[in-house]
Amino acid sequence: MAVSNFLGVFLVVEIIVSGLRFGADGLSMNYYMMNCPFAELIVKNTVNRALQSDPTLAAGLVRMHFHDCFLEGCDGSVLIDSTKDNTAEKDSPANLSLRGYEIIDDAKQQLEMQCPGVVSCADILAMAARDAVFWAGGPVYDIPKGRKDGRRSRIEDTFNLPRPTFNSSDLITMFGQHGFSVQEMVALSGAHTLGVARCSSFKNRLSNFDSTHDVDPALDSDFAKTLSKTCSAGDNAEQPFDMTRNTFDNAYYNGLLRKAGLLTSDQTLLAGPKTRGIVNGYAMNQAMFFFDFLQAMVKMGLLDVKEGSKGEVRANCRKIN
Ligand code: HEM
Repeated sequence: MAVSNFLGVFLVVEIIVSGLRFGADGLSMNYYMMNCPFAELIVKNTVNRALQSDPTLAAGLVRMHFHDCFLEGCDGSVLIDSTKDNTAEKDSPANLSLRGYEIIDDAKQQLEMQCPGVVSCADILAMAARDAVFWAGGPVYDIPKGRKDGRRSRIEDTFNLPRPTFNSSDLITMFGQHGFSVQEMVALSGAHTLGVARCSSFKNRLSNFDSTHDVDPALDSDFAKTLSKTCSAGDNAEQPFDMTRNTFDNAYYNGLLRKAGLLTSDQTLLAGPKTRGIVNGYAMNQAMFFFDFLQAMVKMGLLDVKEGSKGEVRANCRKIN
């Protein structure tokens, strides 16, 4: 029964995903079938091995893919190291807590041995994020491949990432600029079902919040005490987004209903008139969240994808060729 349910969901997902129109014509589900048939398997095995020894890295991979796609498109720009002439995206304060680079390097090294110069770093990251979601208990889905790697990675571009202090209209505007609907933005925010934030990302809610409130009134008072305790260990102390930090589920949305959203940008989804109903829906119906999330992830993975000579296949994900 469980197996047939699983197959049923998988089939429906396949049909929907293959029905999506890819903005990028050169991408396809079986892009590596002829010239690197084991590419998907190599990435999946590498991710599974890494997550078995450190399950918290699933969150790192999903976040890294998001930060890659939002800046200059999904082109592996977030993976590039700084040089003496260029400070790269990864050295921006907004990216300093990104994790999982070594998993991408590991997969890349194996792929370069099997099929040199074929599989892009951008594709490896997109596949790794997809595999991390599934590994953590989230939906299974296929993604089109064929992204090329970019040659630009600049710290100043990270200005275009959303901030934890954003309210729902700021979020709607920023995600709208990338072509996402309100519903897709709320579904993508559900990635915060995985992982943690550091105190520096939410401490503004705990004291001197605004001219009339010391503590953010949108925060449950017991949860506020928990956060203050976490922050007593310093700005880098970590607080999970929800009660199941390594499991991909809808606990994040149920936390928002209890006023236990970690960032302002999380809790605002319950306050905003255009987002509230969607939060309630996902809190009640995990299958609906999974379904919307996977479609929004496939769409995010196609943001400003570089094809043909507009990009390259890096030999080392940390350096342009
Ligand atoms: C809606 C706007 C968003 C804002 C303002 C935001 C902001 C943040 C912040 C501030 C952190 C914690 C960083 C730290 O303290 O070290 C974080 C973590 C995280 N974000 Fe987002 N994020 C957003 C959307 C997304 C999206 C769309 C995804 C993926 C699809 C995502 C995936 C994650 C994950 C998985 C973590 C945990 C990372 C870890 O544990 O290493 N976020 N986000």
